[in-house]
Amino acid sequence: MTGNTIPKLGLGTYGRTGDEGIAALLKAIEIGYRHLDTAQSYGTEQSVGQAMRRSGLERGDFFVTTKVADTRLDKAQFLPSVRASLDMIGVDQVDLLLIHWPSYRDAVPFEDYMLALVEAQQKGYARLIGVSNYPIALLDKAVDLVGKDALVTNQVEIHPYLQAPKLAAHARKIGLPLTAYQPLAKGEIADDPILKRIAKKHGVTVAAVALAFLMAEGHIVIPASSSEGNLRANFAAGTISLEEAEMAEIRTLDRGYRRINPEKSPGWDD
Ligand SMILES: NC(=O)c1ccc[n+]([C@@H]2O[C@H](COP(=O)([O-])OP(=O)(O)OC[C@H]3O[C@@H](n4cnc5c(N)ncnc54)[C@H](OP(=O)(O)O)[C@@H]3O)[C@@H](O)[C@H]2O)c1
Repeated sequence: MTGNTIPKLGLGTYGRTGDEGIAALLKAIEIGYRHLDTAQSYGTEQSVGQAMRRSGLERGDFFVTTKVADTRLDKAQFLPSVRASLDMIGVDQVDLLLIHWPSYRDAVPFEDYMLALVEAQQKGYARLIGVSNYPIALLDKAVDLVGKDALVTNQVEIHPYLQAPKLAAHARKIGLPLTAYQPLAKGEIADDPILKRIAKKHGVTVAAVALAFLMAEGHIVIPASSSEGNLRANFAAGTISLEEAEMAEIRTLDRGYRRINPEKSPGWDD
């Protein structure tokens, strides 16, 4: 895929390892998913590459993202780790390369790994670059360092129960799309009465409503699933159009409920 646009609906691959993982990836590709999200730390780079090749589609049909682990941000490891990712996936270049987490307590200086990210792009290892788990302060620091147009996304936890209004407003202001990870809050939104009512009205699943909502808010979404039914239902979110009143109602579900908050987390805004 070419251009600076990230396909709005992608596939998360966390946990999709081994033969079962490849089977889920192949099913997803058959359904129509082309944007595949992996990371050095997921153990799925190899499955992603295998599924791409076994699908019979062309390399250019896919949009592949991987992420440099926070244990490999230092100068000695950064670029070799990206080359190892390319080998693992079996491609010459990824479409998007992200810093997975900022370095905890600046163990690696910020400038070192942000400039290494730019260098990875200059060397042709990545077509596009971006960040993940960056709060506003680090986003601003990154933009000051590498320029406003260098980065194409910040991948962060966002779902109906964590809408990250401060970060989202800032990202909108600087023109940087957010990619919503765990957009289904790992299935925890499934019993939400408001989402259920809206889903029933549209004749779709609760998950599809959540994804349609997030995309209408301007976010890219990367739900994961191994079940054919869920993969199909999630993919169908791309065709759902919510009314403004429904959007407003879903906005009220935000409760700052963060699922992923390891000790290495930066200070969050929301
Ligand atoms: N940058 C980061 O730090 C970061 C952190 C976390 C995640 N991520 C990325 O974001 C992706 C998505 O996050 P995630 O996989 O943790 O969580 P998620 O996509 O929110 O949820 C996945 C879970 O929800 C279930 N599910 C999927 N579709 C469903 C549906 N239609 N109805 C009911 N349940 C459904 C899946 O089970 P079934 O398999 O049974 O369908 C799976 O257990 C990851 O795979 C990864 O690529 C990035």
